[in-house]
This record gives sequence, structure tokens and C-alpha cells, in this order.
Amino acid sequence: MQRPDWSIDEFAHAGDEHLDPAYIATYDRKAATDPAEDVALLRDLSLDASRVLLDLGAGTGTLALAAAPFCRRVVAADVSLAMLAVIRAKAEHMGLHNVEAVQGGFLGYQHEGDPVDYVYSRNALHHLPDFWKGIALARIAAMLRPGGILFLRDLVYSFDPSEATDAIEAWLAGAAARPEAGWTRDELATHVREEYSTFSWLLEPLLTRAGFTIREAHHRPSRTYAAYICVKR
Ligand SMILES: C[S@@+](CC[C@H](N)C(=O)[O-])C[C@H]1O[C@@H](n2cnc3c(N)ncnc32)[C@H](O)[C@@H]1O
Repeated sequence: MQRPDWSIDEFAHAGDEHLDPAYIATYDRKAATDPAEDVALLRDLSLDASRVLLDLGAGTGTLALAAAPFCRRVVAADVSLAMLAVIRAKAEHMGLHNVEAVQGGFLGYQHEGDPVDYVYSRNALHHLPDFWKGIALARIAAMLRPGGILFLRDLVYSFDPSEATDAIEAWLAGAAARPEAGWTRDELATHVREEYSTFSWLLEPLLTRAGFTIREAHHRPSRTYAAYICVKR
């Protein structure tokens, strides 16, 4: 379906590096996370072999692939073809046959088949400005069955505007010294300047308005990351 002329191109907002195979080849070394805790949390929330899980902005598939042995069907969606190629290669290597790597974003992914039981999304929603976050969250709610779970992790600012300088400077002061070791001060500054992380006190009403009850909200001490367990009403 053609996009209306007032709609943004989510591919153009994906972050150039996420579309670059050379960057993606180093992504897991730089940005690797252990998905065990999130998989355990999903299983505590009744994830089992009858369930459908959708990972939006799946990247190299860290969570999708780790959760797959406990699900019936996993859809790992991302706008980046290079990310999807990594997911497919890993799934084949791991012998996982229930993982589909699908090109699609928060605004364009069209779900087919049984309704989704769980949507997981980590560090991806901030690619959209707030108006589009609202649209994306409403689309996610529409894909989930009633009672379905949205597990959302992202870079989210849990402070007031008057605290922004101190909070951002404190965050940047703890950045990695070298890019191979993690996110450097320059990279975090670019994130703040060019991407669309928002305030928790804006995101939380967007979640509620989209049709979710926030069951748990966790804000890291740095006040720059948040995690939400939300239930579709
Ligand atoms: C920082 S990476 C996080 C990847 C993965 N979730 C993780 O935790 O490692 C952000 C991912 O979001 C994807 N992305 C960017 N804009 C998107 C959009 N509008 N819809 C879906 N994915 C998007 C990028 O291609 C990239 O793979």
C-alpha cells in the first residue's frame, strides 16, 4: 500500500549504520546483550510452545533467537535487510525452524496469521518521533490479542527538562572510552542530538492511550533507559 504524502519514511529514520553491512558485521561484538533474563521474564509471563512472539526492530535477532525454542512462532521484523540476513544465517546455524525474519517496521509491518501473544522491542522505538511512536504503539496494540504482552525496552529519559543537562552529562561521562568497548561519548551525544528518545512522562501516557495497562515500569539509575511490561486491555 502506498504511503500518504504526510507519512514519514521509517526506513530513512532507521539510522544509516543499521543499514550498513560493514557496521552490522561488528554489531554483536559491540552491542551484544545476554537475552537470558528477558527470555526468563517472558516465560514467567506464560510464554510457551503455543505462543506467537513478534520482535520489532529485532536487529541481529538476539532475543528472537533465544526465545524461539520456547515459542510456536517467532517473527523477527526489522527495516534493515542486512540485519535480517544475519538473523536468517544464525537461525539456520542454530537449526531453528520457527523463526521468520521479515522486512517491516513499526509503521509498515503487516502481521499475518494467528494474533500475536507477545511483542518485544528493544532499543528501536526511539527511531520514531513521538507522533509516530503513538501510531506505532496503537498498531502494536491492534496486532496483540487482548491480554497480550508488550515488553518494551528503550532509551527513555526519566527526568524533567530542567534536569536534562545534568542527567545527560552524567550519562555521557560514563561512556566507553573506545567504540569496540561499547557506546562512546560521541555516539551517545549523537543519539541525544539526532534520535528521538523521549521523556518517560510522555511515553507512558502514549502507552496507556494506545490501549495498554502498564504493569511494570523500570527506570535505570542513569535515568536514560526504561523497561515496560504492558498488557493489552
Ligand atoms: C539499536 S538496534 C537494536 C536491535 C535489537 N533490538 C537489539 O536490542 O540488539 C535498533 C534496530 O531498530 C531497527 N529499526 C530502526 N527503525 C525501525 C523501525 N521504524 N521499525 C523497525 N525497526 C527499526 C534498526 O534497523 C536496528 O536493527
